[in-house]
Amino acid sequence: MRAAGKGRFQGKVDPVAEAFGRSVHFDQRLARHDLEGSRAHAAVLAKAGILRRKEVAAIRKGLDRIEREIVQGKFRWKDSLEDVHMNIEAALTARVPAGAKLHTGRSRNDQIATDMRLWLRETIQSDVAAVTSLQKALVGLGMRYKEVILPGYTHLQRGQPVLLAHHLLAYVEMLERDKGRLADAARRADVLPLGSGALAGSTLKLNRELARKLLRFRETSANSMDAVADRDFLVEYLAAVALGGVHLSRLAEDLILFSTSEFGFLRFGEAFTTGSSLMPQKRNPDVAELVRGKSGRLCGHLVALLTILKGLPLTYNRDLQEDKEAVFDAADTWKKSLEVMARAVSSIEVDAGACLYAASAPELLATDVADALVQSGMPFRRAHQVVGAAVRAAEERGTRIDRLEERDWNGLTDRDWKAVVAVLHGSSPSARLRRALQSREGVSGAPSPSGIQAELRRWVQRLK
Ligand code: ARG
Repeated sequence: MRAAGKGRFQGKVDPVAEAFGRSVHFDQRLARHDLEGSRAHAAVLAKAGILRRKEVAAIRKGLDRIEREIVQGKFRWKDSLEDVHMNIEAALTARVPAGAKLHTGRSRNDQIATDMRLWLRETIQSDVAAVTSLQKALVGLGMRYKEVILPGYTHLQRGQPVLLAHHLLAYVEMLERDKGRLADAARRADVLPLGSGALAGSTLKLNRELARKLLRFRETSANSMDAVADRDFLVEYLAAVALGGVHLSRLAEDLILFSTSEFGFLRFGEAFTTGSSLMPQKRNPDVAELVRGKSGRLCGHLVALLTILKGLPLTYNRDLQEDKEAVFDAADTWKKSLEVMARAVSSIEVDAGACLYAASAPELLATDVADALVQSGMPFRRAHQVVGAAVRAAEERGTRIDRLEERDWNGLTDRDWKAVVAVLHGSSPSARLRRALQSREGVSGAPSPSGIQAELRRWVQRLK
């Protein structure tokens, strides 16, 4: 069917063209929002004197019934009616004669823009909850293993010891920024397009303020042409989702790496791994790998929408229909990734011994030794050289820097030597590492045990 019915057109649309333009199979998920918009529009038409009281009541009843049928899966979606808007309008008009007046002063152009904004508002709310659940899972894992020390890496080379909880909380920070971006996108999307008509508003005196109140938008759009052509709010959402997906991918990669035999720091619960069809010993982290892989789709959807918008003349063009599959798939993919990651993270068991062993190489404290020499009065550049030379000397002799003696270190004063000893000598590796972490106390953002405890507590409170 054609949107305008028979009027302008006589013949039929080419069946291949009709199928090509059809969107009802994916835009029917906007049904609730479309109905909500229609109820508000009916109220506006009543206020403008276009619908009588009785007609509004009949339309409302009709819309409510359609909604019930949709919820119960009893509504008959017709492919021939192209999209969600015409399916609902046709079903309404078939039951309620006044339904034929509902599209007065409205175009599918301002209607779809309104539906998408209503949909986005709801979606972002549940996204934020899903991100929070993953944050809680990460904090929970950090709490369970709050004493665990492991190497922190740069260039994927062991750098300095950190607490596992510090590593996990880094992701909690990223996810918090993701929520900030979502909230930001939601705020800018909080504008009502309805009342903009096809592109130039209406000659009918539509009270847009009433529609705004009924649909609970923060403001009404100020330019009807912008209102029907704008999809910035979806780009912003896709950008937030793409970056959120990239964060999940980095988390997945860290966990995959740490779960290899080469690292051996942790294991995913069996329920989040799979075997190999050939190699009997395998325990593959497929869930995390899929999360990492799916982030590619999320980035792709952002680029797809930007490319769709680029070069589009004002105002509405049918190209804009292409926003939906990208946005819906992005929302679904991200949501599922967040959910499964939260569960997978909660299933993790950490091998504290393996982590400690990897962090125990005294070379990981080389920077701390240089800091200690600075405290004892040596300029940092020289301290860096002195410690570097010691590392090299140990390497050449097939030993470790904590086994070098005073004479193996070049040109240290007594005071300097005491500083070296204080960092490197005289206790078990775990005590030495704890001491190293404790000496970070008072530096905000650093992984001192008391600092991390406080951070864990802060996040538990904040995520409640
Ligand atoms: N299915 C369309 C979309 O998603 C709805 C708006 C159609 N408007 C039009 N003038 N054909 O963009």
